[in-house]
Amino acid sequence: MSTTDRNRWNGKYAHRPAATFVDADEWLIEAHDTITQNTPDLTVTRRAVDLACGIGHNSVWLAQHGWDVDGVDISIEGLGLAEQLATKTDAVVNWVKADLDNWRPDPDSYDLAVVFRFLDRVTVPQIVNTGLKPGGWLIYETFAASELDRADSHIRNPAFTLSTGELRQLFDEFEIVAFREETLQDRSVQRLLARRR
Ligand SMILES: C[S@@+](CC[C@H](N)C(=O)[O-])C[C@H]1O[C@@H](n2cnc3c(N)ncnc32)[C@H](O)[C@@H]1O
Repeated sequence: MSTTDRNRWNGKYAHRPAATFVDADEWLIEAHDTITQNTPDLTVTRRAVDLACGIGHNSVWLAQHGWDVDGVDISIEGLGLAEQLATKTDAVVNWVKADLDNWRPDPDSYDLAVVFRFLDRVTVPQIVNTGLKPGGWLIYETFAASELDRADSHIRNPAFTLSTGELRQLFDEFEIVAFREETLQDRSVQRLLARRR
């Protein structure tokens, strides 16, 4: 499964020009504002992990905003683009080439986990539950099932989309700070900001 994923994503990224899609996601920025308003002591320890970070645009943004970031992805091609973006913007990110099926963080090691456009209903909750410190934050956005109805979408596999309310249910042991199902101009998503108890 992961070998197929790795080859598929390496193929996609190999044909992608560097430095496209470099802005951080708007949900990252908005949720991050809420976090910094609620946890002023985060200036002391700020470790973040970006799971399935792809070309690393969100990792780079977090690094630019004072976080010590691990960007984890299975694709060496994606991480190559990510490092180009980091270099171009003078950001320092620790890129980790790893398969999330096997990679596990040290327990209680991160203050923040972010996940965008990636869904694995087993491994992501396991990783987040293990890796976040108590009180640590999760910012998550990925595609809702209604994405499949959009003629312009590249998402075709229902397994990669969320049923109504599902993202909140996957983290029901967390304190849910914000949960939204959003139909945006270019995509249909669920957005979560949650906190490990
Ligand atoms: C749709 S992209 C999203 C990338 C990035 N988060 C973003 O929003 O642009 C999905 C990413 O998941 C990565 N991926 C897929 N399976 C993986 C696995 N088993 N372990 C680690 N990364 C994986 C791919 O390499 C790809 O970069």
